[in-house]
Amino acid sequence: SLDPPSSALLLRWYRAHRRELPWRAAPGVRADPYRVWLSEIMLQQTTVGAVIPYFRRFIERFPTVAALAQAPEDDVLGLWAGLGYYARARNLIACARVVAGMGGFPETIEALRALPGIGGYTAAAIGAIAFDRPVVPVDGNVERVAARIFAIEASLPKAKPTIAAAAARLGEQAAARRAPSDFAQALFDLGATICTPRNPSCMICPWRDACSAHRRGIAEELPRKEKK
Ligand code: ADE
Repeated sequence: SLDPPSSALLLRWYRAHRRELPWRAAPGVRADPYRVWLSEIMLQQTTVGAVIPYFRRFIERFPTVAALAQAPEDDVLGLWAGLGYYARARNLIACARVVAGMGGFPETIEALRALPGIGGYTAAAIGAIAFDRPVVPVDGNVERVAARIFAIEASLPKAKPTIAAAAARLGEQAAARRAPSDFAQALFDLGATICTPRNPSCMICPWRDACSAHRRGIAEELPRKEKK
């Protein structure tokens, strides 16, 4: 029979294989919420590989949220050029000004959610990664992992709430609740490097023995998508 997906096993894998990303803190060090926020906004429209050089340039010019809050809008838009979707850059400045006025990022999901340009996903990502709030941010990577672990066969977008509930269940074990930041990032890394959309590397997956879709030989087929 199937093992439950052990959060301790995933965390052990993450601590051995975590990707070095410029917005990630060193192991055991609390992440800078400004960097986490900026990276999450940038990652909403672009891949990790494409975001990295933009992120570095941005941080070099605006090392703190206070620096960004004081920047002329054209300077920010200039550094954003190439990432596309300028509404997002305008929201970025608006959010930086509110946060700088508050003296820093708020630490609850609800207060984060109330900031300009921050929706449910981004609030959960900042809350988990920067402040160790016990939530699982559900992006496309995490949806894929959850759909496969529990072999959820219903199609997206209809299955979104079902898959989100399954992802939340992944975060319920004690080991995950003790380390929400690492756990969220472990799910991102698993989805990006092992549990990939095509040709997933199930043979080296820390959750192979817990994965219903792998067991049934349908990992690559999930999550299913409604044909447009
Ligand atoms: N995708 C979305 N957020 C991410 C993060 N913080 N690290 C890596 N990949 C991500």
